[in-house]
Amino acid sequence: MRLQHCHNFHDFRELARRRLPGPIFDYIDGAADDEVTYRRNTASFERCDLVPNVLRGVETVDLSVTVMGQKLALPFYCSPTALQRLFHHQGERAVAAAASQYGTMFGVSSLGTVSMEELRQTYATPQMYQFYFHKDRGLNRAMIQRAKEAGVEVMALTVDSITGGNRERDLRTGFTIPFRLTLAGMLQFAIKPMWALNYLTHEGFKLPQLDEHVDMGGRTVSIERYFTEMLDPSMTWDNVAELVRDWNGQFCLKGLMSVADARRAIEIGCTGIILSNHGGRQLDGSRAPFDQLAEIVDAVGDRIDVMMDGGIQRGTHVLKALSVGAKAVGVGRYYLFPLAAAGQRGVERALGQMRAEIERGMKLMGCTSITQLARDNLRYR
Ligand code: LAC
Repeated sequence: MRLQHCHNFHDFRELARRRLPGPIFDYIDGAADDEVTYRRNTASFERCDLVPNVLRGVETVDLSVTVMGQKLALPFYCSPTALQRLFHHQGERAVAAAASQYGTMFGVSSLGTVSMEELRQTYATPQMYQFYFHKDRGLNRAMIQRAKEAGVEVMALTVDSITGGNRERDLRTGFTIPFRLTLAGMLQFAIKPMWALNYLTHEGFKLPQLDEHVDMGGRTVSIERYFTEMLDPSMTWDNVAELVRDWNGQFCLKGLMSVADARRAIEIGCTGIILSNHGGRQLDGSRAPFDQLAEIVDAVGDRIDVMMDGGIQRGTHVLKALSVGAKAVGVGRYYLFPLAAAGQRGVERALGQMRAEIERGMKLMGCTSITQLARDNLRYR
């Protein structure tokens, strides 16, 4: 199977599965507990039907949106995700380059493997920085300051990871960062020689957002332990209000789901919210963001930018979310599997396919601009 045979999410996922050591594939692909929420995120789109209008003159279609003060050429962006150079040696550089080429925003994680400064300087497209609230308040302040100095456009505080999700695939494989050479790990290196060769012959593993502040002491850290030991479970709305004030710019909360919390986000001065359940990786059984979207848009959509992520695999999923009232949507695994499969070329191909699907879907719906997508065109089963 090769890149030119990848036509959708499932093809890229399969190619990534063949190329990656098993524990790394399972880290990306896996989710919490029984992975019910992970599956539901995508399934939720299937309960909603599109009702097209025809004969409306659709030769040119404008896919641009403005969200969090950023003008994007596309209504979807690359959500921040961790550890990208572990998936492909080009890592965040590939994702940022592809996002720039398509004129959309990319996210950089606190657990990113390329520095936010390098990415900001090299790629001329809006950057979202994903922030975790650490127990070490000095580290939090320093990170906000760094992001400000780097010129990051959008700050996104993740609020759904106050403790580590129960990711049983990672427990089974012993997935840790840096990749640990257990006997099973060595076997994985041996059976995926191309991945291993690339990993070993490129720049060593680093977490430049954290390394300056935290001494990982060469220890291996599991994601579960990072969440549980380093992040602050006492975080409250008051702490976040302070961060919002410190940042003094576009600030969104990622991983919020309830109307009460959405209202609170407005009160403390946030400019955006991202409905998300962390790709099903945290609280299994939590609602799919798409199912929750209408309630949130109705309650606060006129006062704050509402975005969502989770389960998006098709252009029509994006169209449905935008029709309900999301300003833009994030994709995660949708670009991570292409990254793992083929680096920058893979991500570019995936973003191009998503753009083509959205454009085709718009034409078939009889719409020439994103603002024409409306709830009249949706029916629920
Ligand atoms: C994860 C974190 C690191 O879901 O975002 O693995």
